[in-house]
Amino acid sequence: MGQAAAGGHGEPAPDDVDLDAWYRLPPVAAGKAHVRSNFVSSLDGAAEVDGRSGALGGSADRRVFRTLRWLADVVLVGAGTAVAEDYGPVIVPPQRREQRLAAGQAPVPPVAVISGSLRLDPSARLFGADVRPLVLTCRAAPADRYRELAAVADMLVCGDETVDPAAALHALAERGLGRVLCEGGPSLHAALAGAGLLDELCLTLAPLLVGPDRIRIVGGHRWPMPVTMALGHVLEEDGSLFLRYLRR
Ligand SMILES: NC(=O)c1ccc[n+]([C@@H]2O[C@H](COP(=O)([O-])OP(=O)(O)OC[C@H]3O[C@@H](n4cnc5c(N)ncnc54)[C@H](OP(=O)(O)O)[C@@H]3O)[C@@H](O)[C@H]2O)c1
Repeated sequence: MGQAAAGGHGEPAPDDVDLDAWYRLPPVAAGKAHVRSNFVSSLDGAAEVDGRSGALGGSADRRVFRTLRWLADVVLVGAGTAVAEDYGPVIVPPQRREQRLAAGQAPVPPVAVISGSLRLDPSARLFGADVRPLVLTCRAAPADRYRELAAVADMLVCGDETVDPAAALHALAERGLGRVLCEGGPSLHAALAGAGLLDELCLTLAPLLVGPDRIRIVGGHRWPMPVTMALGHVLEEDGSLFLRYLRR
């Protein structure tokens, strides 16, 4: 992977890049959150092919995906994505675990799932993981499902009828999970970005056209005005662009 040359049609830089350096996070004060999202999209804006994102990303995308996980304190996803993509625990190799420990992080970042309905299967592989996942929910959640999930996950109640994204981030930050990697999906992403809570977007632009009528990287209701982002970097490999955009 290399840095795309300014002006486009860039020859990739010959050496492989240090992804840790390119995606380094700024310091995050105790009790505060830095929210980074990571998505892959086709050139025509599709965020899924037949309901999953796997067909969009190649090996370089998977390297970026892993690196971002290894830099995060917590991986945050909406229930739709956790189910559609059959989420499991984050895999961190031993050497990275040591690096994380040395940096004051837990060896493995937990996965936090946002769900109001709690239609999550407590026997799903995510809930059998060594690292106990978190479930962020609201007071209106069904009590029986809450009880079932509380046996296999740490439950955080952040809102009345739905999960308040700001309250959810606050609850995570209070547990020392300030560096948040949101892996989607589109509904959660739109809620965070629309509320002004998204600090950066890491977007892989995959060199293919998927066609109309696909989910995009944001979903739900229209916003009153656009959110402006500033380009952080562009990397390139095999025709895919790896874009990092920061909140203005
Ligand atoms: N291209 C990519 O990089 C990428 C990344 C992620 C996902 N995807 C794709 O996106 C699709 C899934 O889309 P989606 O919109 O269903 O994803 P989602 O945002 O992961 O899930 C939506 C669900 O999350 C819960 N949720 C989100 N915000 C909430 C809030 N404020 N309060 C309470 N609950 C909240 C709700 O769950 P409950 O219904 O349980 O209340 C809601 O139905 C899949 O096809 C997946 O492959 C693509």
